Amino acid sequence: MKILVTGGAGYIGSHTCIALLEAGHSVIIADNLCNSRRDTIDKIINIAENEVTFLEIDVTEEQAVDVIFNNYKVDGVIHFAGLKAVGESVDIPLTYYYNNIVSTMILAKACQKYGVNRFVFSSSATVYGDNIVPFVETMDLLPTTNPYGETKAMSERILTDIANANPEFSVALLRYFNPVGAHESGLIGEAPNGIPNNLMPYVTKVAKGKLEKLRVFGNDYPTVDGTGVRDYIHVLDLAEGHVAALDNLKEGAHVYNLGTGQGTSVLELVKAFEEANSIKVPYEIVDRRPGDIASCYADASKAKRELGWTAKHDIITMCRDAWSFEKNYED
Ligand code: NAD
Ligand code: UD1
Repeated sequence: MKILVTGGAGYIGSHTCIALLEAGHSVIIADNLCNSRRDTIDKIINIAENEVTFLEIDVTEEQAVDVIFNNYKVDGVIHFAGLKAVGESVDIPLTYYYNNIVSTMILAKACQKYGVNRFVFSSSATVYGDNIVPFVETMDLLPTTNPYGETKAMSERILTDIANANPEFSVALLRYFNPVGAHESGLIGEAPNGIPNNLMPYVTKVAKGKLEKLRVFGNDYPTVDGTGVRDYIHVLDLAEGHVAALDNLKEGAHVYNLGTGQGTSVLELVKAFEEANSIKVPYEIVDRRPGDIASCYADASKAKRELGWTAKHDIITMCRDAWSFEKNYED
């Protein structure tokens, strides 16, 4: 199939483009490069040994999106393009609501106009809010604490309503847990601008000596060692999850957790990183970070049952691959 991948130059999108090409699909990337680099496109082509079409386009611009659908016979859309910094979304909410929701609506509108019935959407485990673990797709969603999370909940809702009204429209809403790691080539990976907010990129910067030490946000949570527990998933497994979702789309909107089902605490992750890479990661315990929850991990059984997909890589591999990328990466 010819798949339009919005945000395909980004962290998860670039790994997914490779998985799509390796599965025999062809790929059109639409990305405005607001949080990614053009040279990632060349790296995708090198790794997959296959061509991609790259369009530097803002997918909130309706005319630009229309031109894509008019010029290419698109069979399906994977919509990654979005802004994702939680703290920033509190400071500039309108930018987040506009970018993340308008892009979803414009793409859905183009799909309707051009008769494209396959749509895969990047959602997040953040839509569960502070629920009881493990998070399962049938749970009632709780409010998130920030505009970013709301854009994901609202986009899910919009796509679900469209699918309910147009039964031929098949949508997979993929709720990612915590993506980490990088392609085993070390060529592409997660490269956030400025000081990272998320744990793994912060740890790799400390290991590299760019940051002095990790601040562990709280050690008084009701968890195995008091630090926050998350379901870290290798980005390569996540990428495969998209191929599986696309191959198994069915009429209507369907939600899938993409996680491992395993919880790992902050200190367990630090220990795994040190062990995988034989590098010390200095840390100190500081106060809890506002908005954080104690534990977040998936019940991943639905994706296994319906998509035939499970995550394969363990936490040591995630730490090794994250480090392989970071140590060669020039900011
Ligand atoms: P990323 O920032 O690396 O990739 C997003 C890409 O979208 C970037 O290349 C950016 O330039 C592009 N983009 C943003 N707005 C655009 C627009 N209007 N038009 C065209 N391109 C645009 O982020 P990522 O980690 O790869 O995340 C991909 C998606 O998955 C996002 O929707 C994100 O919210 C979601 N998600 C990410 C995580 C995570 O931890 N990384 C977790 C859950 C959900
Ligand atoms: C964050 C987002 C969430 C998003 C997810 C994507 C917040 C509040 N939530 O989730 O919406 O979907 O990223 O991956 O930002 N930690 C430290 N020190 C650090 C960084 C993190 O101790 O410097 C801890 C956190 O307290 C948490 C764990 O590490 O317990 C993971 O944090 P992070 O990587 O930021 O992800 P989430 O908080 O799960």
